[in-house]
Amino acid sequence: MMDHLGRLEKLRAKLDDAGVDSLLVTNLTNVRYLTGFSGTNGQVLVTTSDAVFLTDPRYEARAGDLVSGADVAIYPTRLVDALKPRLDAATGRRVGVESATMTLAQRDDLADRLPGVELVPVEGLVEDLRRTKEPGEIDAIRAAVEIADDAYTWVIDRLVPGATEREVALDLEVRMRLAGADNVSFDPIVGSGPLSAHIHHTPSDRAFDKGDLVLLDFGCRVDGYCSDMTRTVVLGPASDEQRETYETVLRAQLAGIAAVSAGTPPPDVDAAARAVIDAAGRGAGFPHGLGHGVGLDIHETPAMRLTTDPLVAAEVITIEPGIYNVGDGGVRIEDMVVVADSGCDVLTGSPKDTLLEL
Ligand code: GLY
Ligand code: MN
Ligand code: MN
Repeated sequence: MMDHLGRLEKLRAKLDDAGVDSLLVTNLTNVRYLTGFSGTNGQVLVTTSDAVFLTDPRYEARAGDLVSGADVAIYPTRLVDALKPRLDAATGRRVGVESATMTLAQRDDLADRLPGVELVPVEGLVEDLRRTKEPGEIDAIRAAVEIADDAYTWVIDRLVPGATEREVALDLEVRMRLAGADNVSFDPIVGSGPLSAHIHHTPSDRAFDKGDLVLLDFGCRVDGYCSDMTRTVVLGPASDEQRETYETVLRAQLAGIAAVSAGTPPPDVDAAARAVIDAAGRGAGFPHGLGHGVGLDIHETPAMRLTTDPLVAAEVITIEPGIYNVGDGGVRIEDMVVVADSGCDVLTGSPKDTLLEL
């Protein structure tokens, strides 16, 4: 059981600095983080003195099972009907709303129906709390990583000429779900031959051929927490160019991992890995950021190339450089790591030291 009450208390302590008397949490991942509720409709109103989880009748029984740390209130049709009496009774009228996810239409509707209430856009309050993972969260992530590692080991025998990208993607998904995953953390990416250079490829009916690079990027969820890993293999003996590309990506990935430590700005880690690829003259082939935070969402803060706030201990990030030669093939290697006070712990256990030739 996660400490929802403790999380709500930490959030409450941030309201004043954010210039609000209360916060209406509408981002469903944030709702889950704060209360334990998972479902398609739910909000949390957090005031300086209490918290209430709000949903519709479809989720009444489920909320009773899942929600802790907050009261539960059911509204028959509209959220605003449950909000209005609570806000009328509250002392402060400045209500924070999550501007990254609330639509303009939702905001306008609330503003129309809540006269006298000031809706204040706020950003990142809950997301910042989510960066540092609690031990129970890291346990769930570890479990999701282990299931993905096992699926990789198992699927290697299926990477043969004639197998298709879609078949292998489905194999990975079924294997992870049978092993106990809630579901996949994103649709598996299986790219073969020239399609391995499509960074976020959708698996096609293309059948593998001898000499293909095959890029597998996949993960699953356990208790809502995600894993995310990438390995690239080759069917048959590798060409010198494939091996050289792989070795460059691997050296970049190891340089990135070596640069991870609490206190380091993520762009410095990105730069450490990127420098290796640039020095090999392959910089143009690495157009994306080095990685991202992972937790209840597959992509969380920090974005390794963009977020300037330094890394913090116990946050979980990916390190995933790649080199993509459009029309020919691509290589990416992705591990998940937990940031430590000094250095980091690599969670992903699948081998990566040499390009696997199948
Ligand atoms: N699969 C998306 C990623 O690795 O970030
Ligand atoms: Mn990935
Ligand atoms: Mn990733």
